Amino acid sequence: MGKNGMLEPDDWGAFRAEARRMLDAAISQMQVARNRPWQPVPEDLEARYAIGQADQGDLVARLVEDVLPHHGGNIHPRFWGWVQGSGLTSDLIAGMAAAAVNANCGGRDHGANRMERAVIDWARRIMGFPEAASGVLTTGTSQATVLAFQAARLRVIPDLRQAGQGDLRLTAYAGAGVHNATVKALELLGIGSDNLRQVPLREGRMDPDALRDMLEEDRAAGALPFLIVGTAGSVDLGLFDDLDALADVAAQEGLWLHVDGAFGAWTRLAEPPWRALSDGIERADSIALDFHKWMYVGYDCGLVLMRDESAHRAAFAARPAYLDGAPEGLAGGEPWFCDYGIDLSRGNRAIKVWCALEMFGEAAFAAAITDNCRLAAEMGAQIDATEGMALMHPVVSNVCVFTAAPEAPPERQSQINAQIATALQLAGVAVFSTTRIGGLTALRAAITNHRTRSADIATALAAITQLRRAD
Ligand SMILES: Cc1ncc(COP(=O)(O)O)c(C=O)c1O
Repeated sequence: MGKNGMLEPDDWGAFRAEARRMLDAAISQMQVARNRPWQPVPEDLEARYAIGQADQGDLVARLVEDVLPHHGGNIHPRFWGWVQGSGLTSDLIAGMAAAAVNANCGGRDHGANRMERAVIDWARRIMGFPEAASGVLTTGTSQATVLAFQAARLRVIPDLRQAGQGDLRLTAYAGAGVHNATVKALELLGIGSDNLRQVPLREGRMDPDALRDMLEEDRAAGALPFLIVGTAGSVDLGLFDDLDALADVAAQEGLWLHVDGAFGAWTRLAEPPWRALSDGIERADSIALDFHKWMYVGYDCGLVLMRDESAHRAAFAARPAYLDGAPEGLAGGEPWFCDYGIDLSRGNRAIKVWCALEMFGEAAFAAAITDNCRLAAEMGAQIDATEGMALMHPVVSNVCVFTAAPEAPPERQSQINAQIATALQLAGVAVFSTTRIGGLTALRAAITNHRTRSADIATALAAITQLRRAD
């Protein structure tokens, strides 16, 4: 197809036919996702992927045989492990258009940047941020968190970029059990994870009184509190901080309020009662969230939104001479996204979101997100009604955490739950992941999957009951 040394097809007609074959296979993969569960990776797969092997046959056939079957399961309707998005057919179209243009979205004046602005503006509106707010698409919430924390830090140390943090001990505050992305961001920025103060929870939410006490204590000890991290959708249990209460504390104490809304921020699109979970998010200084989780688009695509555009820009803007802008031409256009984050060269992530919203419409996402919450509640109700299973916590949003051996001593329960997760995965039945709650390994379903139906929940729970009977 392309072995003419020119890095172009030698026969465009043949290439067109091959590319169409690939597209057909990709569409089928999604159309029958239900019939193609994940499977163990064959022993020789790595060898088959080795570059430059002679006689490998045609590329599309290899992709169909050696690549498409070996997915991680998250396009399947019974995948609820970790917090992974299910992927959309619109991604197939977006991927082709993006590849054909090969946009570098670091800056300059071309369509992809305008599209990114449109996507950010849509998300800004959904999150209730003011029109003047800024944002940049990122690899995911982890990167978005680093960007937000850097802007927050610059607000308390205006010459940070030149002078560094020096001897100042900055402290940040988050509810106990905050996602590791917050810990990592503080490590990366040289603030240090010891300076993350994990505030006790009251009824699953950061306790604002305890937070105030800690702030007073730390200030008295010479620290410089700068940041409160609220969680909209905790990774273990899908819990939400009282963001309004945190916004009040932040305003009174002069602190930056960041919200980790990796998946839970999208409850802004859900119907009641779930929408109210994220009330107050519109009062944050920054929000980190993912499109690749609960907006279902393909990996990777996250976003940081910042209320104060000038604080955002101040933290990252840098234009060496060769990146000078111009009043017109390709070097024109403002803003350039390289001034709002770490990356200079960056791909067109926005097109996946844009295609998804234009193809399916906002209302379809609102319905799918609401339905995922309903299904998690349904799973919880079935577990409650099943002898030999027990919820570890009431279901609040789209996360259901339970034990399939409540009668057993804790250590044995942990063992059984972990074995069940693995057995269901190996059998291609369902993907739960595990987490530790109160020292016990529990089964956990995080439903960020628009393909899941009620019958899938029943099938998975029946399989667990069967495994327990065979135990
Ligand atoms: C609450 C929360 N925050 C942050 C992250 C990290 O997001 P990402 O994987 O997009 O970097 C996750 C991932 O599961 C999460 O659930």
